[in-house]
Amino acid sequence: MKPLLHVEDLNAFYGDLQALFGVDFSVGEGECIAVIGSNGAGKSTLLRSVTGLHRGRSAKRLSLAGAEISQRAASEIVAMGMTLVPEGRRLFSSLTVEENLTIGRSAGRAGYWNLSRIYELFPTLLELGGRPVTKLSGGQQQMVAMGRALMTNPNLLLCDEISLGLAPVVVKGIYDNFARVRGQGTAVIIVEQDIGRALSVADRIICLRKGAVMLSGAPASFTRNQIAEAYFGVEGE
Ligand SMILES: Nc1ncnc2c1ncn2[C@@H]1O[C@H](COP(=O)(O)OP(=O)(O)O)[C@@H](O)[C@H]1O
Ligand SMILES: [Mg+2]
Repeated sequence: MKPLLHVEDLNAFYGDLQALFGVDFSVGEGECIAVIGSNGAGKSTLLRSVTGLHRGRSAKRLSLAGAEISQRAASEIVAMGMTLVPEGRRLFSSLTVEENLTIGRSAGRAGYWNLSRIYELFPTLLELGGRPVTKLSGGQQQMVAMGRALMTNPNLLLCDEISLGLAPVVVKGIYDNFARVRGQGTAVIIVEQDIGRALSVADRIICLRKGAVMLSGAPASFTRNQIAEAYFGVEGE
């Protein structure tokens, strides 16, 4: 089967600093991949590079559903079916909840997700639709960020540290919703610093350290020690 996203020999740079080194991976239709790794490992750079938001990168192959995307603008990549929920949410602070959600429509992709289904997924947001997003709690803002991304009806949804800084009960609520998102056949890449959570939701994990893939495969194929070693390094750096 052809992969949905195919990444071969991806290198990324910030000026002279190289942040990703020859990263290879692919995501199949409907699959859930967790990317783990400590702070600075290159997780956000990876997601931003494949979605076209970080332009300082090169790859032997970067394709979505068989189409090469390395020269495509970020907005074109969204319109082709791959959308990022960015680290730190990046909502439009001068806009209301509903206006933020509606922005997802500009991708012009029809599908299962529309405003009423987003409100069904996150009932808390229903009463908050007219409020400025800045008045919402962190957890509610994260729901808006996910909702906005879902409104683009992606085939592949990328989520960068959506649980960071949120109360455990809020995180659980957000993760419970992944089941419904995936039920629509949507593939997901999540970036998580919480290894336990990553292992529990993902079909496959990819561990990055210092910009390189240290380990990748089904969670059950690794011992805790192998994962810890890939994550922290043998010398406990
Ligand atoms: N805007 C930037 N300018 C320069 N270096 C950056 C920038 N963003 C990230 N980096 C560097 O790239 C590396 C990977 O960062 P990042 O992808 O944010 O890691 P992670 O998301 O895993 O914490 C780090 O060494 C970080 O300092
Ligand atoms: Mg990051």
